[in-house]
Amino acid sequence: MTAARVPSPGDGVAERIVGAIRERTDLRPLAGVVLGSGLGDSISVAWERAGSGEPIEIAYADLPGFPPPTVPGHAGTLWLGTIADQPIAIFRGRIHFYEGHPMALASITSRISHGLGARTMVLSAAVGGLDPSLPAASMVVVRDHLNLMGTNPLTGWRYEDGSPAFVDVSGVYDAELADAALRTLRDHGIAVTDGVYAAMAGPAYETHAETEMLRRLGATVVGMSTVPEAVAARALGMRVLGLSFVTNAAGGAVSHEEVLLASKTAAEAIGLVVAELADTF
Ligand code: HPA
Repeated sequence: MTAARVPSPGDGVAERIVGAIRERTDLRPLAGVVLGSGLGDSISVAWERAGSGEPIEIAYADLPGFPPPTVPGHAGTLWLGTIADQPIAIFRGRIHFYEGHPMALASITSRISHGLGARTMVLSAAVGGLDPSLPAASMVVVRDHLNLMGTNPLTGWRYEDGSPAFVDVSGVYDAELADAALRTLRDHGIAVTDGVYAAMAGPAYETHAETEMLRRLGATVVGMSTVPEAVAARALGMRVLGLSFVTNAAGGAVSHEEVLLASKTAAEAIGLVVAELADTF
């Protein structure tokens, strides 16, 4: 016997947004790309290398149910266009748990991308470096994560048969995409390594004791995003590429301005990866 459909948190929000996007364009993106703080210039980098056709940009404010981003450096628009002959959706700005939104909304970019037909998510983010040998302004390709946010984006999710979303997250980050991103960035002489992303709820940065704890747990970098979208994408059967950018050494004094400034260098690297890997998305 099939159990009755149990409502899941956020049900209907992504569907409404997908409907509103479809009224504006018949582009069917194969990938969703999320640009974190200060990374909006990645679009022009990717566009100059491999763009074609007539892209469109929709303000989140024009998508019913899309919460407006409140973080400086997050533009709050959805770009839809073609890179390397692949239709792609690029979110300029994301919704964070630390803004006070539920996890269902913190993972909305993956749900929308999936609803539009995408099969790959590229999740970029500014992070603090935990490994003292990691220089600021280097890139980290995410191989795995520690979810230390105290909650999970699948809390309350139900499958069609009513069962909870007991999703296998042993391989969230696609190994082939990660290898290809590492190769591309190295080929372009960009400082890059791979490692483990620790997700904290934020919005406060880490204490010295927390930084030491994260190091001992085996994390390479720490941030306040990526994981909600990565887990939701995995639950929806999508491939995930995580591209983190070290703006500071974790545990030190950090200003949001410092994060934004350092992120400008990362925009180039992320634009490059999108342009060069798009044909594999
Ligand atoms: N900690 C958490 N998130 C961050 C950091 C940090 O040091 N830097 C940029 N995002």
